[in-house]
Amino acid sequence: MREKIAFIGGGNMACAIIDGLLGQGRQPAGFLVVDPYAPTREALAARGLACVEAAGPGLDDATLCVLATKPQVLREACGQVRRHLPADATVVSIAAGVELASLSDWLGGHARIVRAMPNTPAKVGLGMTGLYATQACGPAERERVDALFAAVGERIWTDSEAMIDAVTAVTGSGPGYVFHFMAALEKGAAELGFAPADARRLAVSAFRGAAALAASEDVALTELQDRVTSKGGTTYAALSLMREAGVADAIVRGVHRAEQRARELSAG
Ligand SMILES: NC(=O)c1ccc[n+]([C@@H]2O[C@H](COP(=O)([O-])OP(=O)(O)OC[C@H]3O[C@@H](n4cnc5c(N)ncnc54)[C@H](OP(=O)(O)O)[C@@H]3O)[C@@H](O)[C@H]2O)c1
Repeated sequence: MREKIAFIGGGNMACAIIDGLLGQGRQPAGFLVVDPYAPTREALAARGLACVEAAGPGLDDATLCVLATKPQVLREACGQVRRHLPADATVVSIAAGVELASLSDWLGGHARIVRAMPNTPAKVGLGMTGLYATQACGPAERERVDALFAAVGERIWTDSEAMIDAVTAVTGSGPGYVFHFMAALEKGAAELGFAPADARRLAVSAFRGAAALAASEDVALTELQDRVTSKGGTTYAALSLMREAGVADAIVRGVHRAEQRARELSAG
């Protein structure tokens, strides 16, 4: 069956996914983008994608419909989509904090829905997307959605919708935590005498290198840490201070706080 993917909202995240799919060789003719903002439509149309201002008959043969608006306008967007959504289309929502029950309600009882929580590294093909599908989605639907997010990085399927809040707390917000740590490393480098551009380069490089190493070796992260921490050495000195300051504990508590906040936001 020929795939037709409709994006409701052609903003940052939708474009990251579209870029990933085009980069994998998908044809622009397989997409429809619905976005009320003319410059967004013009930029996408210049790349050969069909774009419309509002959901209409163009949706009638969509196999996948990706809801990619901001959460606060999603209800209104669904109101437009529901009139044209094919009953057998799979709907994927990337809207943070909008529960499946609301989505199904807003879409007139539509059952085949997947909730997705991507993160911003999707823009460079290194995203992690958490996914949860309703019972109405079979293996074929799951595969189709998995392929969508495979274009922008890794995927993790969860067994419950609640775990989407956990994904949000770990990888959705995770890049923010990492930027926080990177900015601190950059500040330390600047204080040691490096010019701003070099301080930034050193901080980014430490993370890029450590992340690549961690991804390449199937050993515990604590083991990797121990390997670069000889007793009495420089790393040991710094980590001893960080332990005393409770850095790791604060990160763990931060993850719990984020999950709690995600639950609060989902509850409305
Ligand atoms: N960016 C992330 O890292 C990230 C991560 C996980 C999840 N998400 C989720 O992804 C969603 C999109 O985020 P984003 O950063 O891509 O936002 P964005 O860049 O603001 O994109 C949203 C787009 O939807 C358009 N839109 C508004 N109302 C519409 C309607 N009724 N029909 C069709 N399109 C409409 C907006 O147009 P206007 O500009 O004219 O309003 C805008 O172009 C959000 O729900 C967010 O929670 C984002």
